[in-house]
Amino acid sequence: MQRIVILTGAGLSAESGLGTFRDKGGLWTKYDLEDVATPQGFARNPTLVHEFYNARRANCLGAQPNPGHDALARLQRAAPDRVTLVTQNVDDLLERAGAPSVIHMHGELTRALCAACTHRWDAPYQMAPTDPCPACAAPATRPDIVWFGEMPYYMEQIDAALQRADLFVAIGTSGNVYPAAGFVQEAAFAGARTLELNLEPSATVSLFDDARFGLASTVVPEWVAEVLGGG
Ligand code: APR
Repeated sequence: MQRIVILTGAGLSAESGLGTFRDKGGLWTKYDLEDVATPQGFARNPTLVHEFYNARRANCLGAQPNPGHDALARLQRAAPDRVTLVTQNVDDLLERAGAPSVIHMHGELTRALCAACTHRWDAPYQMAPTDPCPACAAPATRPDIVWFGEMPYYMEQIDAALQRADLFVAIGTSGNVYPAAGFVQEAAFAGARTLELNLEPSATVSLFDDARFGLASTVVPEWVAEVLGGG
């Protein structure tokens, strides 16, 4: 099987009931991202930020993987050394679908981070700013989410995978946020073919060799069946 790097966005989890950000009724139409997705917002009002992520964590724990997650997990299990799964999402639905290894470049709702010593640990169900860090005991607990203006996680690992990729596939992302939105060009420069699977054309659709439009729960299993069937 060819080396495949897959980038997923909120559209993959939309049919599991988790909100996207920029669609009609998306999270950024209800909340000001400056208040809940920046270090400055957290410094201003840590309780508001924890309430926002506690609600998203509860929503996530109540959600189920959809056929799109199941198909990507099946693909990675079939060839774990050939399929790199990178997600911008902070939910754990790909893991719960059975994906062996998911790279969360924007962090994870199920993890906490100490704002004082940067220790990371599995998050309790509901977090509060004064929760003591298990490592340094500082009352400086924040969600382990990469906010705007912060460096995404695992970029060296992602860049290395993009350099080796034969195929780069972006699924359910609007192509608005960098560095993820630039992965298609990085992969293409390194010689990969590129495919977009999305409900509608993303902001970067013109940079892809091919694109298929539809619901992730339909187009992703169809594409995975082609790859596994040798199509
Ligand atoms: N199936 C496939 N695609 C879908 C579906 C669906 N059922 N529903 C929505 N989409 C597509 C939309 O057409 C859109 O292009 O998913 C994309 C969602 O775009 P955004 O809401 O911008 O989400 P995303 O691209 O993941 O945002 C990237 O922005 O706010 C930051 O850190 C946050 O990780 C997030 C990043």
